[in-house]
Amino acid sequence: MRKNRQPAEPYKIKSVEAIKLRSKHERERLIAEARYNLFKLDAEDIYIDLLTDSGTSAMSNRQWAALMLGDESYAGATSFRKFENVVRGLFGKQFVIPCHQGRVAENLVFSNLMKRGQYVLNNTHFDTTRGNCLHKGGIPVDLPCSESKSDEALPFKGNMDTGQLEAFIKEHGAEQIAMVIMTVTNNSAGGQPVSMANVRVTSEICRRHGLLFYFDCARFAENCYFIKRDEPGYAGRSIREIATEMFSYCDGAMMSAKKDGLANIGGFITLDDETAYGLLTQHLILIEGFPTYGGLAGRDLEILAVGLEEVLEFDYLDFRIEQVRYFGERIKEAGMPIIEPTGGHAVFVDAGRLLPHIPAARFPGHSLAVEFYVEGGVRTVEIGSLMFGGVDAKTGKEFHASRELVRMCLPRRVYTNSHIDYIADAAERIVTRKQELKGYKIVRSSQFLRHFTCDLAVCDTQLVESRRG
Ligand code: F0G
Repeated sequence: MRKNRQPAEPYKIKSVEAIKLRSKHERERLIAEARYNLFKLDAEDIYIDLLTDSGTSAMSNRQWAALMLGDESYAGATSFRKFENVVRGLFGKQFVIPCHQGRVAENLVFSNLMKRGQYVLNNTHFDTTRGNCLHKGGIPVDLPCSESKSDEALPFKGNMDTGQLEAFIKEHGAEQIAMVIMTVTNNSAGGQPVSMANVRVTSEICRRHGLLFYFDCARFAENCYFIKRDEPGYAGRSIREIATEMFSYCDGAMMSAKKDGLANIGGFITLDDETAYGLLTQHLILIEGFPTYGGLAGRDLEILAVGLEEVLEFDYLDFRIEQVRYFGERIKEAGMPIIEPTGGHAVFVDAGRLLPHIPAARFPGHSLAVEFYVEGGVRTVEIGSLMFGGVDAKTGKEFHASRELVRMCLPRRVYTNSHIDYIADAAERIVTRKQELKGYKIVRSSQFLRHFTCDLAVCDTQLVESRRG
C-alpha cells in the first residue's frame, strides 16, 4: 500500500470536458510564441491549468438544475430572495448586496466606508484589496503573525498579529483607521488559515477601540475546516456552526464567491448597518446594477444559493483539503521544497531554494513555471520577483520579492488524483535536470502589474553572473 494515500473523490462524473496534451515540441514553440509569458497562452493549449482556483470550479448537477430556475426580473427577482436567505442564514447579517466579483465589493467598501488618508489593517491584503484601498486614497497595512514567516509546519499561520494590531492602534489612534479586515484563508500568506481564537481577539480589540471589523472571506469554508480539524474545542461542531460563530464576531463581510461560492462568477457584501447599506447600494446602482441583481444574472444568484450550501458539506471539504495536502506531499516526494503546511487551495513551491543558481533578478519562479508548461503542459503562476519586484521610481534601483514561489492552485472539483500524480511525475523529471533551467529577462514591460503582459526572453544565468563578476 502506498504510504501517502489519498481519499477517493466524493462525487462521480456526469459531464466531461476534453483536455488536450500538445507534444513537447509544440509546447516549446507555443511558449516561445507567447514570449514566455504563461498569461498569453491560449487555454486550449494547456493540459492542466493551475493558474487559479477563482471562477474555475466545476458546478454540481444541483447547481446546473438551479440555473434553469433563474428569475431574470430587473427588480425583486425570486433568485435574489433565495440568495439573500442563504447568505443571511450563514452570515447572520441583515443586508446582502450582490456584485459580480470580489474586487467590486472592495471598491464599494473602500469608496464608502473609508476616508482618504486612513489606514486599513489586514492580516494580509490580497493584491486587489490592496489595489482598491490605495486607489481610494487609503493606506493598506499588513499585520501577519510572526509564524507566517517560519518554515515550520505550524497550524494557523494565516493569523493576525494581535499584539501589533493593538500597538498600531495605540500609535496612530483609532480615528486614523477606517477598518480592520481579516482575510480567510490568508491567500497571500500561502492560503494559511486563521484560528477562531485569533478572530475573537481581533474582534474584541476592534470593539474596544470602536473600529469596524470586516472579513474578506473568499475561502471561508476552507478556513472553517481547518478550525474544525486543528483548533481545540471545534472537532464536534459542524462547518456551518463554525462559520456562523466566525461571522458573529464581525460587522460585515465581503466575499469573492468565485472561490467558496463554487461558482464561476459572483460576489457580495453583507452587513447590519443601515446607513452604510444605503451608501453602498446607491453606489452599486451606478457601477453594477439594481440591488437585487448587482451585475449578476438571476441564474448566477441561483447557482450561488446552492454553491454556498454545498461548500459547507464535510465530505466535500475533507476531500478538498486532503487533495491539496496529497498534492503537496507528492511534490515534496518529487524533490521540490514547498511551503508547509499546505494551505487550503494551493501548493506553493519554493523555487528560490530549488534553483539557487538562478538569481532573483532572473526570476527562478518564472523559470520553474515555464518548465512545468514545457515538461507537462501544466500552467502555474510565479509569485516572486516577476510579480512583486520592479524598479524603485525614486532610486532607479531594482528590488525583489522576499520569496521566489510558484503557486499551483487547485480548482474545486475539477481535477482527479490521477491529474495530481501526472503533475508530480512531471515535477520529478524537472528536478532531475534542474541545473539546466535558465533564467529570464524582461524585454518589454508595462508600468503596473507587469507580470500579466510583459514579454520575456531566456537568459543564460551563467552569462549574467560572469558579466557581473
Ligand atoms: N480577496 C481574496 C482573498 C482573493 O483571493 C481574491 C481573488 C479577491 C479578494 C478578489 O476577488 O477575483 O472575485 O475580484 N483571488 C484570485 C486568485 C484572483 O487567483 O487568488 P475577485
